[in-house]
Amino acid sequence: MAILIQRAAAIRPSEITDESVYRSRRRFLGRAAMFAAGGLLLDPMTAFGAERQDQPAAEQLNSWDEITGYNNFYEYSPDKRAVAVLAQNLNPHPWTVRIDGEVESPRVIDVDQMLRQFKPQQRIARLRCVEGWSMVIPWDGIALADILQLVRPTSRARYVRFVTLQDPSRFYGQRRATMPWPYTEGLTIAEAMHPLTFMATGIYGKPLPNQNGAPIRLVVPWKYGFKSIKSVVSIRLEEQQPLTTWPQVSRDYGFYANVNPRAPYGRGTQSRETRIGELRKRDTQLFNGYADQVAHLYAGLDLDKNV
Ligand code: MTE
Repeated sequence: MAILIQRAAAIRPSEITDESVYRSRRRFLGRAAMFAAGGLLLDPMTAFGAERQDQPAAEQLNSWDEITGYNNFYEYSPDKRAVAVLAQNLNPHPWTVRIDGEVESPRVIDVDQMLRQFKPQQRIARLRCVEGWSMVIPWDGIALADILQLVRPTSRARYVRFVTLQDPSRFYGQRRATMPWPYTEGLTIAEAMHPLTFMATGIYGKPLPNQNGAPIRLVVPWKYGFKSIKSVVSIRLEEQQPLTTWPQVSRDYGFYANVNPRAPYGRGTQSRETRIGELRKRDTQLFNGYADQVAHLYAGLDLDKNV
């Protein structure tokens, strides 16, 4: 597998979590889950004030257990620690993705075929959830731009709409109208074509676990994690900005969802975050630390208003 370490991330993959950090993290996740069980959008992290003494000097990768044991996937449950168990019924093979809309050659692509055609690269990226927690994840993925080149977008393609599978027999959560299903996300065509934007197919060199959005999910490292839509079955290029899920849930969510510590978003301030595994909060960075790579996409746009 080819390895592509994103320079922008400035993350040191060599640093491995030691046993004591790992153990204190399990306790932390246990407490966090107690808060999370209380409601769909409850923020356990801001309720948690203690500081840990063994703060790592630099960012380190989150462990496999953290990445695959603490998940947001509302098609299963709002309980982050229940998702991994519930998602075992997903059965993500075979799986196809339809790519159509404003393109010259629409296609239905089989994901296993896609994996043979494009060699996934390792891409280490931060994931910052609007709930105030973050992780550093060694994904395996394919640049979205490479996939979109296959279908040749027309000049009318200004946005890309992504949709998750709709299947209440597999996604128990879809049996209730807790959210407008199917989960839908969107990007501008410039965001979709940016080299940092990719479709993830694995983590730590293994196939993407069901709870992380098997077999293929979007990752947009400079945006809040909810933009990184899981278990995608449709990618459609469109002229108009798509109506996405979260702005329908609440007016507190906008289309762009760029990580911005200056602008309140969702249920409040986004100035600080808790890296899973740490108790002491850290400052959130503009564009999640990827400003050098992506700020030009928003030239002339007031980021505090266009949220
Ligand atoms: N995609 C779908 N289809 N359903 C979801 O509930 N949750 C989002 C995003 N993608 C979600 C989704 C949110 S809120 C976050 S923070 C990330 O997935 C979490 O990804 P992870 O569980 O792999 O950490």
